[in-house]
Amino acid sequence: MPAGGFVAGDGQKAYPGKLTPFVLFTCVVAAMGGLIFGYDIGISGGVTSMPSFLRRFFPSVYRKQQEDATTNQYCQYDSPKLTLFTSSLYLAALISSLVASTVTRKFGRRLSMLFGGILFCAGALINGFAKHVWMLIVGRILLGFGIGFANQSVPLYLSEMAPYKYRGALNIGFQLSITIGILVAEVLNYFFAKIKGGWGWRLSLGGAVVPALIITLGSLVLPDTPNSMIERGQHEKAKTKLRRIRGVDDVSQEFDDLVAASKESQSIEHPWTNLLRRKYRPHLTMAIMIPFFQQLTGINVIMFYAPVLFNTIGFTTDASLMSAVVTGSVNVAATLVSIYGVDKWGRRFLFLEGGTQMLICQAVVAACIGAKFGVDGTPGELPKWYAIVVVTFICIYVAGFAWSWGPLGWLVPSEIFPLEIRSAAQSITVSVNMIFTFIIAQIFLTMLCHLKFGLFLVFAFFVVVMSIFVYIFLPETKGIPIEEMGQVWRSHWYWSRFVEDGEYGNGLQMGKSSNQGTKHV
Ligand code: BGC
Repeated sequence: MPAGGFVAGDGQKAYPGKLTPFVLFTCVVAAMGGLIFGYDIGISGGVTSMPSFLRRFFPSVYRKQQEDATTNQYCQYDSPKLTLFTSSLYLAALISSLVASTVTRKFGRRLSMLFGGILFCAGALINGFAKHVWMLIVGRILLGFGIGFANQSVPLYLSEMAPYKYRGALNIGFQLSITIGILVAEVLNYFFAKIKGGWGWRLSLGGAVVPALIITLGSLVLPDTPNSMIERGQHEKAKTKLRRIRGVDDVSQEFDDLVAASKESQSIEHPWTNLLRRKYRPHLTMAIMIPFFQQLTGINVIMFYAPVLFNTIGFTTDASLMSAVVTGSVNVAATLVSIYGVDKWGRRFLFLEGGTQMLICQAVVAACIGAKFGVDGTPGELPKWYAIVVVTFICIYVAGFAWSWGPLGWLVPSEIFPLEIRSAAQSITVSVNMIFTFIIAQIFLTMLCHLKFGLFLVFAFFVVVMSIFVYIFLPETKGIPIEEMGQVWRSHWYWSRFVEDGEYGNGLQMGKSSNQGTKHV
């Protein structure tokens, strides 16, 4: 058995505590950070296919689009300036997520969320009132800074607030709000594009103010996490807050563990260099490979450019946006399936099933586009059944992603890192995600222009590679307490050579804290 052979023992560590209305409220508000991220992902593709927007800011793209359909359709949107508009946000997010990790640690998670919300508001306003391309780009950069802060602090906040037993579901709640953000943006684009006078794009871009205000105000009313309070020396306040959050009086075991964990992680002087130690090799590998592979599924080609793509294969602007709404709804619905199944069927099953599903769809879409557009990109008349087949397979592909690599791309890294490297490793995951989101956003339209339908085969190839990677290297983490995660590496045929017996490779080492009470099987 190459991987996943570890069976969870009964070493469950159960802290008392329930899913109180208070914790539910704080988590729902905090998860709004995902909403803003999603809104941005969903809005750019729709706006960049609105003729009035293109005519004003990207006239050369607009002219190409107006030329008749006998010209090469693969290249009509190929403009570095247009892709810079989409992708500048992700580069800014990458930089700010590194800065945010320090703010989050030293000043608390709330402050990072607040920064995130304020930067978002500023970016949305500049975009909504933009008169020149540079204003659009500056606005997108501010939004990106906001995302960096929010994505660094929100998942951390959720994990620390959530009662242990509900951590998985609440984690995917973050992804759920990303998908809802994408869908809302796509629906709004659909209606705003119809506004007479062609200024609807201002509402689409400026609309980001609404989710931004929610997270800004939310972060003002949210309490900070007990972990963060302890980290900053406010022990009594943290204990009172923990009682309130968990809805029980006896929180001493969890509280003591938090204090011990905080001491342990403070004794690590250089979390970044610590990550390079041999025993963290599996963690570092996953911190890099999981977000890398998540982006190499090609999902953001659909998320950013679905309307552009649908336009390319012969839909009108209106039908393009409608198609994007359809894929957006599939994305939300399939994420709910993941919330339901992730702790029943396991991560590996979802990864492998989702991968197979995506692979088949990519092959079908490539074949369809290749058959009609050939290599010169001149389709001639496109029949209705053709468009329906393409949209159907794109939807099945999106569903495959939305119950596998979408949520698991955030969930799995967050549950495998030992405490002492958790924050640094999480920053790496966010950064790698942003770098590859940026690269794909930046070069997709050029790649479509040159690789034509073969582009879908490139992503299909990566889906094969990532599925093999998961099958061989990723152990199952379902039902295993975070504090016990070291076992999955020690019992793994390959990773066991890095994480040796006696080195727990996760959380505190046994014997260092009598409060751990962890039972290893
Ligand atoms: C990814 C995004 C993607 C989104 C789609 C997220 O998990 O990080 O890049 O656009 O899922 O739902």
